[in-house]
Amino acid sequence: MDAAEEGMPMQQAADLDLPYLTMDEDAFAADPFPHFAAARAQHPWLARWTLGYVVTDYKAMRDLFATEDRMGMLYDNIVEIMDAKGTPWGNFQQRHMLNMSGMPHKRIRDILAPSFTPRQANNHRPLMREVITGLLDEWAPKQSFDFEEFASYFPITVMCRLIGASPDVIPGLRSAMEAIGLSTSMDPRWLPAMQEGVVTMENFVDGLIADRRANPRSGEEPDLLDLLLETQGGGGLSDRELADILIFLFVAGYDTSKNMLTLTMWELLERPEMYRRCAEDHAFARSVVEEAFRIHSTTSSQRVLKEDIVYRDVLLEKDAIVWFPLSVATHDPRYADHFESFDPERQQKNPHIGFGLGAHICLGQYIARAQIHEGLHLIAQRILNPRSSGPQGYRPFPGTWGLRGLPVEFDVAEVPA
Ligand code: HEM
Repeated sequence: MDAAEEGMPMQQAADLDLPYLTMDEDAFAADPFPHFAAARAQHPWLARWTLGYVVTDYKAMRDLFATEDRMGMLYDNIVEIMDAKGTPWGNFQQRHMLNMSGMPHKRIRDILAPSFTPRQANNHRPLMREVITGLLDEWAPKQSFDFEEFASYFPITVMCRLIGASPDVIPGLRSAMEAIGLSTSMDPRWLPAMQEGVVTMENFVDGLIADRRANPRSGEEPDLLDLLLETQGGGGLSDRELADILIFLFVAGYDTSKNMLTLTMWELLERPEMYRRCAEDHAFARSVVEEAFRIHSTTSSQRVLKEDIVYRDVLLEKDAIVWFPLSVATHDPRYADHFESFDPERQQKNPHIGFGLGAHICLGQYIARAQIHEGLHLIAQRILNPRSSGPQGYRPFPGTWGLRGLPVEFDVAEVPA
């Protein structure tokens, strides 16, 4: 409890005059952080928006997640709000691991965990370097392009390589990911495209699994798909679970990573010296990526309360939906020193929470970090003096936030023979 609030009588959150955040509006997405600062000035940690409460402060997010067994996952509610029960999109949202809790979730997480360690992510670094080099070979000679579009091919190509999928499928998967990525924006306009996206993904993974079973690879290091198939021998994943996991890995890693790399580039466009140093200094590029995660991190977590929760003398009622916009947490002057400046060398006592908290903390975080780190280091070597007129738009804030289009012009480095 905050000292200033000690001794206050308990209040119902529903009765409080809380700040209202217009998170679903385009103007909000264009510049979200001042809205959160204004909300904190009115109430230190809680706000409201159309679909429930919004926690606006770092410590409150951490404290509430420390009792996460009192919060459930939200995707059943999302499917209900979207009136999509029993549809391909609805079924997928209800089955994937971010909608599981307790033992069923732990079982899946334990099966997957050995393939997502920091060591495994480091083992994938050569593959990540190969992928970004291939993309740069193709895109850099253009001397100008939409950086967001360029960045979108990176995570999807890495994921395809990790599971041995043909590069031919990439354009189709990319369109499907663009649609499914809008799932948590809860905008019914996108539903038909999201349905189509899930069907595309299901057909793709079912075909991939059947093909690998019929044609096992031999004499090669097992890839991620081999490792996940092996768990089936030990009574691990069912076919349905394996298919859902493969789809979810694509979904979870696509627009998060693409948006994050684009936002990192956007920050660096204004900091040419830092950008140049990313090309020369591998360790510095890593620090830049961590600082970009602190400032942006792109995602929100959402939970529904399984019971009443009292926090700092405020009662949040059972069944309330609570949003945790994770990047906002380190934009609070109480929890990040000179929080508004982009400082890769900051000594930050409070870690950022861009990969979430608790039982569902991002499984792919080491892959995501390694991917963006290797990507940035090599991009900065090939794309010189990037210039931009700025973003063309912004992604919806409550989904996976980011820029919608970042045109860049640049000089091209000569590639050594
Ligand atoms: C910039 C990149 C990324 C960011 C910011 C990010 C962020 C997050 C966050 C915040 C969560 C927790 C959501 C919640 O608790 O509601 C999460 C979960 C998850 N992420 Fe990521 N992610 C990223 C990249 C990736 C990648 C590349 C993969 C896979 C290769 C991945 C796989 C997952 C999975 C499987 C979960 C669910 C874990 C569970 O339910 O136990 N993520 N991610």
